[in-house]
Amino acid sequence: MTSHSAWPSHGGQASALLERFGLPAIQPLVDFSTNLNPLGPPDWLGDAIAGAMVGLARYPDPSYTEPREAIARHEGVDPNQVLLTNGGAEAIFLAAGLHARGQAVIVEPSFSEYARACAAHGLQITSLPLAAPAFDLDPDRLASPLRQADVLFLCRPNNPTGTLLPWHTMERLLDSARQQGVTVVVDEAFIDFVDEPGEALTPLLARFDNLILLRSLTKLYTLPGLRLGYLLAGAQTIRRLQAGQPPWSVNHLSAALVAPLLADSDFLDCTHAWLREERPRLQSGLLSLGLEVVPSRVNFFLVRQGSGSPTGDALLRRLLQAGILARHTHNFPGLDGGWVRLALRGRADNDRLLAALTAEAAR
Ligand SMILES: Cc1ncc(COP(=O)(O)O)c(C=O)c1O
Repeated sequence: MTSHSAWPSHGGQASALLERFGLPAIQPLVDFSTNLNPLGPPDWLGDAIAGAMVGLARYPDPSYTEPREAIARHEGVDPNQVLLTNGGAEAIFLAAGLHARGQAVIVEPSFSEYARACAAHGLQITSLPLAAPAFDLDPDRLASPLRQADVLFLCRPNNPTGTLLPWHTMERLLDSARQQGVTVVVDEAFIDFVDEPGEALTPLLARFDNLILLRSLTKLYTLPGLRLGYLLAGAQTIRRLQAGQPPWSVNHLSAALVAPLLADSDFLDCTHAWLREERPRLQSGLLSLGLEVVPSRVNFFLVRQGSGSPTGDALLRRLLQAGILARHTHNFPGLDGGWVRLALRGRADNDRLLAALTAEAAR
């Protein structure tokens, strides 16, 4: 019997999902619902945090000069084009705050916090739905919604679809948005999982002053408890974004880790090696079980069962009973629970997922 408690708002909320389904605690549960890197955090992190503890007795540098310079070097931009944030989540809320009480367009299905941030800042929201299974965007479809808009939010690569809008689509979109005076906020929280180089939109900052890029360090380095992200934009926009940020928003330990995290290219290489091996393996396993799988450029898959099979909820429930926590899609407009999002994990866990799905398919 399904209880009437709310769907959990994000991945990783095992007890809320169990409660939703009226199930007792299940131990152990393997978490495929949060799209974090299973290789992290990097080994050296504990020592680095211990070494940085001494700085806790002081306020952080309010302008975060050192971490901003490290990010600027890493990204090939000027330090005054960087704002350090308390995770990608704070970056989203700051970006929404720039157009408080204005009009926003959100390309859906996508991360639910854009809508929450817009609502918190009194923006009126228009959704621009992308259709399954390609979740492609024709920039011509944006012409009309952009006419009324102040800001457009989109996620690239997109959570929850794992798809990446092509670079030329982004150029066309940015161009027409600029002509209409619209700011484009592109959430690149998952860009480091794209293993082909040159996909990040950073170089477009030099051409489009209406572009704001949003990054997170919590996904790649498996640090969601630490909170660390940043914004990239033109210097003037960064000043306006900073004006809306509380002082010392990023704690000293997080700020101290920026430079060493970005310098750890071995960690990124290992992550890409894991993705190159496990992503095609899991994808073909899922496909061979008859699941519809959206081709992913990152570390998670959006899947659904064919017609005549149980709904996303039935699959989610049976996976839970098999000790696997998957992400529901009830709070992704357009998906409405029909799909399930599965993170890519280490080989043994992925095999366990495939075994559970094979058992489910044989029912
Ligand atoms: C697309 C996207 N952007 C931003 C965030 C927020 O990340 P952070 O942990 O850095 O706040 C998430 C977290 O799930 C996300 O999925």
